[in-house]
Amino acid sequence: MNKLVVVTGASRGLGLAIVKQLLKHTVIKYDVLAISRSKSDELLQLEEEYSTSDKRLHILNADLLKLNNIQALCTKMVKDYGRPYALINNAALGFDGVLATMHNSQIDELLSVNVQAPILLSKYLLRPMLLNRKGRIINISSIIAKTGFNGLSVYAASKAALEGFSFSLAREVGKAGVTVNCVAPGYMQTDMTQSLQGEKLESVKRRSPLGRLATPDDAASAVLYLLSEEANAITGTVITVDAGSTA
Ligand SMILES: NC(=O)c1ccc[n+]([C@@H]2O[C@H](COP(=O)([O-])OP(=O)(O)OC[C@H]3O[C@@H](n4cnc5c(N)ncnc54)[C@H](OP(=O)(O)O)[C@@H]3O)[C@@H](O)[C@H]2O)c1
Repeated sequence: MNKLVVVTGASRGLGLAIVKQLLKHTVIKYDVLAISRSKSDELLQLEEEYSTSDKRLHILNADLLKLNNIQALCTKMVKDYGRPYALINNAALGFDGVLATMHNSQIDELLSVNVQAPILLSKYLLRPMLLNRKGRIINISSIIAKTGFNGLSVYAASKAALEGFSFSLAREVGKAGVTVNCVAPGYMQTDMTQSLQGEKLESVKRRSPLGRLATPDDAASAVLYLLSEEANAITGTVITVDAGSTA
């Protein structure tokens, strides 16, 4: 039987890379519920590609900033597609800016999408996982949770919160066969990091012993590993995928 995986922020960047790897996986067959506010051309193309035989990709449009709608979204997912095997909390906002001039509305939005939405999605999708006595929750953090970076204090707080949440939740649900982990990527070139260009970008690359940035595919591979049977004994931890830049 195929394993159902819910991926948030699936329209582009890392989320899209995760969806592609899930659909291409040959050892385990994954069905995917892809959540984002918009349907990107690439996601629509994938939907067409996987629409022929058994439909394995379903795209759901939802704005995770609307926290009050999350319970209904989860109920609908389980009713329409069954109990999920895994939840990948990947959607996030990456506003940067010095704290002193950051609008309170931006702080609110960032903490809602990056922290509260993953917590609520975990809460409502954990129930069906507990009934299955098997499941995986993977939260996408960032190396910024542990390293300082000028202009990213609120974003850093959101990722550190997600890591703390993951460690304690892992303790709470381990006995029921559910693992909870984080993947913490370093800088990847996506829409979120568009402003990182020129000398700043080169200096980030130089910090890596491998002389390069991690790619969305590198981080997606760590997610796929955590979903596998081989990762059965891994819970309550963070896998860093940063081409060694924090070593
Ligand atoms: N890029 C990096 O260097 C980097 C480094 C470390 C960690 N990360 C983390 O990796 C993850 C993916 O980042 P990325 O670089 O792929 O970002 P991205 O290219 O900006 O993509 C963000 C995704 O989140 C979705 N999203 C944003 N707000 C949403 C909302 N309110 N409701 C539903 N979906 C929403 C976006 O879709 P729509 O706009 O269509 O809604 C999009 O699919 C994030 O957790 C990020 O913090 C990124």
